[in-house]
Amino acid sequence: MDREQAGAHRKPNQPGLASQPNRKAHQNMLEIRDLHATVADKPILKGLNLTVKPGEVHAIMGPNGSGKSTLANVLAGRDNYAITGGEALFEGKSLADLEPEERAQAGLFLAFQYPVEIPGVSNMEFLKAALESVRGAQGKEEWDSVTLLRQARAACKQVNLDASFLKRGVNEGFSGGEKKRNEIMQMLLMEPKLALLDETDSGLDIDALQTVAKGVNSLRSPERGIVLVTHYQRLLDYIVPDFVHVLSNGQIIKSGGKELALELEEKGYGWLTGEEESA
Ligand SMILES: Nc1ncnc2c1ncn2[C@@H]1O[C@H](COP(=O)(O)OP(=O)(O)OP(=O)(O)O)[C@@H](O)[C@H]1O
Ligand SMILES: [Mg+2]
Repeated sequence: MDREQAGAHRKPNQPGLASQPNRKAHQNMLEIRDLHATVADKPILKGLNLTVKPGEVHAIMGPNGSGKSTLANVLAGRDNYAITGGEALFEGKSLADLEPEERAQAGLFLAFQYPVEIPGVSNMEFLKAALESVRGAQGKEEWDSVTLLRQARAACKQVNLDASFLKRGVNEGFSGGEKKRNEIMQMLLMEPKLALLDETDSGLDIDALQTVAKGVNSLRSPERGIVLVTHYQRLLDYIVPDFVHVLSNGQIIKSGGKELALELEEKGYGWLTGEEESA
């Protein structure tokens, strides 16, 4: 009622209340407040807070099973994952109100720990559909098939993936490391505003780790946010984060600068979680 009354007193050409949620868009790209979420009805995220501003690179570390991939899946809007409390805002808009495709169109890119295989759909067909949808929604010029092929080949080259991978079924029979490089290749083409990469370093050989890191670094820009989930401080030698967070039992229990990753490598998580296993 208050809202209606306030609206009634506004002159027609004044910005309405509806425009207010986006006002902070340039300050906080991703704002997660007291997020609670379940997987298959089991509570996993238990009051998670995280804010990512444009230009920042955040690393999320933490014990197995603490909820890191759950966070990625919740943000992506995957089936079986439900937000039960708190909120996740992307540029001021609640992600819960957006379909998975709309999240991608808004500029969110998620690379999963276990990339899915889509037999029967070629990598190129998949990219074409994804790019048409996202570029169209963002008002970017459409790529004709020649441009698309040229861009896709260039992106493959950037991650040392042979261009023949474009013709294969999405991730079909790809090795672990090839799947990870394929995800980065897709990300380079999608030019997301915010990228969340879940264990993109796992399974990569030493050379591929550097190649992938170079690819990610090439996307670093003042307008873009990057969130890396990783178990290894080694990745963070190549992609130096602005912030490092520890996720444990569904909450971020410690945040710091890049030095925190070194400290974790040395001390493990026991000193933070209260379990002395790692001592
Ligand atoms: N479908 C499901 N049913 C029941 N529990 C699930 C389901 N999916 C995930 N979980 C549980 O949710 C918890 C969090 O899993 P998640 O994958 O988010 O952990 P993680 O922090 O990414 O771990 P890792 O470092 O091993 O990748 C785990 O205990 C996992 O077993
Ligand atoms: Mg995980």
